[in-house]
Amino acid sequence: MSQSPTAAPFTARDFRNALGRFATGITVVTAVVEGATHGMTANAFLSVSLEPPLVLVSVANKAHMHGYLQQTGRYGVSVLTAAQEEYSQHFAGFGASELQPEFVEVDGMPLLAESLAHLIVTVTDAHVAGDHTLYIGQLEYLKSFDGEPLLYFQGRYARL
Ligand SMILES: Cc1cc2nc3c(=O)[nH]c(=O)nc-3n(C[C@H](O)[C@H](O)[C@H](O)COP(=O)(O)O)c2cc1C
Repeated sequence: MSQSPTAAPFTARDFRNALGRFATGITVVTAVVEGATHGMTANAFLSVSLEPPLVLVSVANKAHMHGYLQQTGRYGVSVLTAAQEEYSQHFAGFGASELQPEFVEVDGMPLLAESLAHLIVTVTDAHVAGDHTLYIGQLEYLKSFDGEPLLYFQGRYARL
């Protein structure tokens, strides 16, 4: 009889390696604070409930977006297309600082132009979970567009 493996201690690298095998899309979460637009790249985004329509994004407690969402309780989500990798880099704090992202505004919420989907979310619950906070919210608005998604897998961008 083969021995079943026992749970072994793991490192932060092991955790990243295993979780990085869960392929995701990429979003840019936006918020408006005192008239200024802020964006943050996030792949920890998922649908939660159909009735009512709920989604969540997990935001690092040390990220500026955490403070913005505490203040505003409302966020936009732009699902990135394969052609928007530079936006992912830009809103993660990397890449060309001279990049001027183009936004469209819906009900006062800036959403990235030419994305794959646009959502506007009102936060209904914020759960602190370790070093992140889960911002669960109800959908106010959504619109889908045709295109190819930008994917993230094992710490790299990928295409379908
Ligand atoms: C592909 C990708 C996905 C990311 N996903 C998340 C995420 O889901 N949640 C999060 O808090 N940060 C995520 N980040 C990191 C933030 O985008 C990054 O730390 C950002 O610079 C934080 O903004 P700040 O420096 O203005 O606080 C991701 C970065 C990349 C490149």
